[in-house]
Amino acid sequence: MAVYPIHRGRRIRSSKQVRSLVAETQLAPGDLIYPLFVTHEKHLQKEIPSMPGCYQESIDYIVADAEEAKSLGIPAVILFGIPKTKDATGSDAYGETGVVQEAIREIKKRVSDILVIADLCMCEYTSHGHCGIVEGGEVDNDKTLGYLGQIAVAQAKAGVDIVAPSGMMDGMVQAIRKALDRGDFADIPIMSYSSKYASSFYGPFRDAAESSPQFGDRRSYQMDYRNAREAVREAMTDAEEGADIVMVKPALSYLDVIYRVRQATGLPVAAYNVSGEYSMIKAASRLGWLDEKSAMMEVLYSIKRAGADMILTYFAKQAAKELGK
Ligand code: PBG
Repeated sequence: MAVYPIHRGRRIRSSKQVRSLVAETQLAPGDLIYPLFVTHEKHLQKEIPSMPGCYQESIDYIVADAEEAKSLGIPAVILFGIPKTKDATGSDAYGETGVVQEAIREIKKRVSDILVIADLCMCEYTSHGHCGIVEGGEVDNDKTLGYLGQIAVAQAKAGVDIVAPSGMMDGMVQAIRKALDRGDFADIPIMSYSSKYASSFYGPFRDAAESSPQFGDRRSYQMDYRNAREAVREAMTDAEEGADIVMVKPALSYLDVIYRVRQATGLPVAAYNVSGEYSMIKAASRLGWLDEKSAMMEVLYSIKRAGADMILTYFAKQAAKELGK
């Protein structure tokens, strides 16, 4: 390989045009998925204090937001529900009139050509705030699986395009695939949160979704941030169980994990740029310590560069606007 003075790395950085030609990574609105928080309340749009620019919204606002996302070239939204009542089994999650099912039906009815993905988990719907059925102070894996299948079928009946299980239960993808196939929904893909870490970066989301665990934490089911090989194993087992898309979450402290999962599987890889990653940039830019737009773009491009095919991000609309300029 040539070295200085034959090699001058600056030749291919000298103008915007040449930088564009040699750019190794592309980012487009078509890579983004926009998360929405749907509340059971009527005609309400309430900003989430720890996530400026994000809202708990009633279905009428959700529909308008999905329409705007579509007009910006964003192909999909993902829904999280804030139900009126929570109980031990999270029954709003699988009820026919559950808040997410209602929102799916309305978006599908009113907005054409946008995918509706539903987060599939119990923590927003259970009184104890855990991602499954609690027995003797522990989340019971196998008891939870049947409920996850029921939630998937309820979401599918409402018209969901993709289900996205996020509870990190063992066997969840298999249980959901079986339930969907039995319910005549063999064509609904599963985007599995396959490698999801127990992370402090979910803090703002738990305010937004009102889903903090009422006792303990999620470390008996979400992954330990010291592990990366285990994340690859998790992605591979979900793939074997029938996942159509695997996910790494969070994204920014886990770029190495995204890279490893990308190398290990031919499946599409999603990365979740989570609430804390969003709020850090928002907060620092409010203080004048970071330039918001350029920090946002750098983070999103770095997630793509690491190997993600798609990014779930609260910045989706803002980034799509920038990319469209
Ligand atoms: C539900 C779920 C969580 C997130 C997505 N789905 C929270 C959690 O596991 O506590 C986090 C998203 C974010 O922080 O943006 N299981």
